[in-house]
Amino acid sequence: MSISQEIKSRLDIVEIIEEYLPLRKSGRSYTGFCPFHANTRTPAFVVFPDSQSWRCFGACAEGGDVFSFVMKKEGWEFGEALQHLAKRAGVTLEQTSPKQQAQQVVEDRLAELLDAAADYFHQLLLYAPQAEHARRYVAQRALRPETVASFKLGYALESWDACRTHFMGQGYDLDDLLDAGLLSKHEERGTTYDRFRNRLMIPIRDLNGRTVGFGARTFDPDGVPKYLNSPQTTLFDKSRLLYGLDMGKRHIREARQAVIVEGYMDVMQAHQMGFKNVVAQMGTALTEEQLTLLKRYTKRFVIALDADNAGMKATLRSLEVARNTLDRAADTRFDPHGLVRHEGRLQADIRIVTLPPGDDPDKLIRANPGQWPQLIAQAQPIVAYVIGVYTSDLDLNDAKAKAEVVQKVLPLIADVADPVEREHYRQLLARSLRIDERTLHKVNLPRARPSTPPQAAPAAAPPASAARAALPLGQTFATEKREANYLRQVLNQPHILIEVDVLLQQQEQSPVTETDFSVIEDRLLFRLLRQLIYPGHFTAVEDLEEQLDDLLRQRLAFLTDQENHSRLSRPISPVPDTAGSLALSMLNCRLEKIRQQLGAVKLLLEQSEKQRNPELLADYDRRLGQDLLRLNRARASMLAVSRRRAAGNGA
Ligand code: UTP
Ligand code: MN
Repeated sequence: MSISQEIKSRLDIVEIIEEYLPLRKSGRSYTGFCPFHANTRTPAFVVFPDSQSWRCFGACAEGGDVFSFVMKKEGWEFGEALQHLAKRAGVTLEQTSPKQQAQQVVEDRLAELLDAAADYFHQLLLYAPQAEHARRYVAQRALRPETVASFKLGYALESWDACRTHFMGQGYDLDDLLDAGLLSKHEERGTTYDRFRNRLMIPIRDLNGRTVGFGARTFDPDGVPKYLNSPQTTLFDKSRLLYGLDMGKRHIREARQAVIVEGYMDVMQAHQMGFKNVVAQMGTALTEEQLTLLKRYTKRFVIALDADNAGMKATLRSLEVARNTLDRAADTRFDPHGLVRHEGRLQADIRIVTLPPGDDPDKLIRANPGQWPQLIAQAQPIVAYVIGVYTSDLDLNDAKAKAEVVQKVLPLIADVADPVEREHYRQLLARSLRIDERTLHKVNLPRARPSTPPQAAPAAAPPASAARAALPLGQTFATEKREANYLRQVLNQPHILIEVDVLLQQQEQSPVTETDFSVIEDRLLFRLLRQLIYPGHFTAVEDLEEQLDDLLRQRLAFLTDQENHSRLSRPISPVPDTAGSLALSMLNCRLEKIRQQLGAVKLLLEQSEKQRNPELLADYDRRLGQDLLRLNRARASMLAVSRRRAAGNGA
């Protein structure tokens, strides 16, 4: 959802417009006198709560959403309207202050330095005579040259100043080297020295492939720490990163499943053997941020952790997080709008697999790669796993202990959305504890603590009108998808914009205009794009970016983010006849809009039988009817063309 849509979904357009003019309910809509042109006779101004839009069927013949209404009425720019309405809707706008922007610049610079450092260490590992033992170590860990290359493994020389000297010599700033965590500072003497010495360097990249830090392994079997990591900075925050995600994300989506392991070596070994949907949480407990990252690609997770006890405890903690994250996502995205009914409960599937004692994925895959998929396939659903963990070493004669297990597991079962599954787990729990299942129904649980911290849901204090603003979300989402798709294609291949216009004009339809867009950000982006593309001033996305404020830039980033493609629109690149299908989808949307308007005008006409001045409306009715006809004709003819073309291709 764009920010404007988020806001719209929390506001009621009727309530807001009513502050400017009296509205009367008529049918499913509200009517009033248009505030934008002088009139007192025909209430030709209509507000449609269903689509959260308005339209004047009188002299000004305009329409839009709540944003365009307040912009027009108050003379506000989009940004101002956004500020006001966001406040009303209880939505916080993420402002990037000049300070944050400066921060961004610094981070970019450090990431660039870290990228250069990864290259530097990599070259040393490949060619430095001093790295012989490192190369042997890599071979002994069965890491193949292509793995060394793709993960860009490196070597840090056994030296206190080699890295510093190298980068200072290249003109890098000492402070940047410190901030990037490549150097450490001797507090007393005030001198600096290389942080990483004689270690195998593992670059850690964010999901966009930017190097943000290093994990550096000692070669000494007793070396401490085993892995020396980059210090925590805004750029390098382990809890917000997953090792291997930059390389794994595509495969996670394709495999429709992400496997989460503990360590660097596990990921590299898995990828090397072709299991590329594997990422590592780098030894810490799985965090909410990490799951949120992953959720972009799949909702099926398998957590594969070591068999030791600490691992299991950590797992249980992770589960807590997982549940909260997914619940919260359901709150923010689905619940408020009743989307739950559309999509069912958020169907996340989290499974756990315990590795055989003493094994980790690295060892296991190396010893027997064929076993890995089998193991993953055996992963258990959370609840079953948890029941297993709690009951495996339970003394079944200890009544208190059994009661405790029930207290821990029942709330989890209660959270399971599906009643059949719930029943299944209740039976499983009863069986594992050797008690009668009916007893479980009698257990009193302490009142469930809220699983969602209050700040989590922006909807925490929904405006009174939220319930009334029942947005037909199916439709809105379809619209958003269509708009996003059009803009994305145009950003990709600017000439498409002109081609679509030509196709539309061949069918005697107007070219694409701002009013074809319902998301206000898209409307503004389109306006600028058009201004750039027609005179040939658009060479790259940056040309557009330059002209945007933060909020539009956010929307643009969303549109140009490759990762969003498959979520929003299946066919991005090789669609035959892109322009044709875009033109057709434009027509379909216009048709839909005209039908809606016709409905409203008919209604107004009925009401205005009693009024004195129905000519204007009658005129509207006529014109809309003609538009509808023309659109239908254009659509039919376009369809015929594309069918002929498809037949031609098939032949
Ligand atoms: P492990 O101790 O399981 O390491 O820690 P590993 O990945 O199996 O490494 P090898 O096979 O012994 O070389 C799991 C993860 O925890 C983090 C690292 O991300 C590691 O991959 N860790 C571990 C550290 O950050 N520092 C440490 O000292 C140890
Ligand atoms: Mn290991």
